[in-house]
Amino acid sequence: MNGAPLLRLEGVRKSFRGVHAVTDASFAVARGSITGLIGPNGSGKSTTIDCLSGFQRPDAGRVLLDGQDITGLPAHLVARAGLRRSFQQVRLFDALSLRDNLMQAAQAADGVGWLGAVLRSPALRRAELAAAERAWLLLDQIGLTRLAESPAGALSYGQKKLAALAAALMPRPRLVVLDEPMAGVNPSRIVEVEAILRRLNAAGETFLIVEHNVDCIMRLCHEVVVFEQGRTLTSGPPAMVRDDPRVLEAYLGVPAAA
Ligand SMILES: Nc1ncnc2c1ncn2[C@@H]1O[C@H](COP(=O)(O)OP(=O)(O)O)[C@@H](O)[C@H]1O
Ligand SMILES: [Mg+2]
Repeated sequence: MNGAPLLRLEGVRKSFRGVHAVTDASFAVARGSITGLIGPNGSGKSTTIDCLSGFQRPDAGRVLLDGQDITGLPAHLVARAGLRRSFQQVRLFDALSLRDNLMQAAQAADGVGWLGAVLRSPALRRAELAAAERAWLLLDQIGLTRLAESPAGALSYGQKKLAALAAALMPRPRLVVLDEPMAGVNPSRIVEVEAILRRLNAAGETFLIVEHNVDCIMRLCHEVVVFEQGRTLTSGPPAMVRDDPRVLEAYLGVPAAA
């Protein structure tokens, strides 16, 4: 996790007709980390990830991905630069098998043109073989190998979320942003999803996770960024953030008892 951060936000700002949604988002995501983003409702988390992923254009500030300035780029160019948002950018095709959905996700991203497809060029065949191998690896990592040939439409809600995550990972993004990955997940399954994210992280994936479930963030993340009223309040390892009286105050809205 050494070296320059994979993602850095510097003074990102965004207002909506006078509503100051984000006044100063400044934080970094280390390469190889699982970084969490938490904060009370309305503190600007969603607007911030919209700004860094190209779904909103920041009014000010900079977003750097691996040193490249991606500020204000539209979402598809941000995705091409290697930053993918799971769920929003991933659509599963119900009639296709889980495996074919993953193959499709790779193809949609790898830019092999129609001419290559017509000629069945060696480059295309190599890309297909690599994608097939990656699909099996990811299916194993999310624990759904046994459902590889099942139509995506037959998967449970939780399985679909995992499939969408695997699809987002197919084109080997540098960073994946997860928006509330535990929302709607059966509480008895949360630890299982955490284990999957840890396994993917151990295999080299970097995650930025926005999540309401603070306990889950504290267990899972190497670094936690805390938002309050549109700005970064603090960031640090979970144990440090948890003991910070300002964080308790931000959540409870009152000074923490001495
Ligand atoms: N499109 C929008 N138009 C007007 N106000 C918005 C819009 N999006 C967010 N806001 C406001 O900006 C603030 C931050 O919202 P948001 O980023 O959704 O916070 P969070 O995700 O932390 O709950 C809130 O006060 C919200 O009402
Ligand atoms: Mg939100």
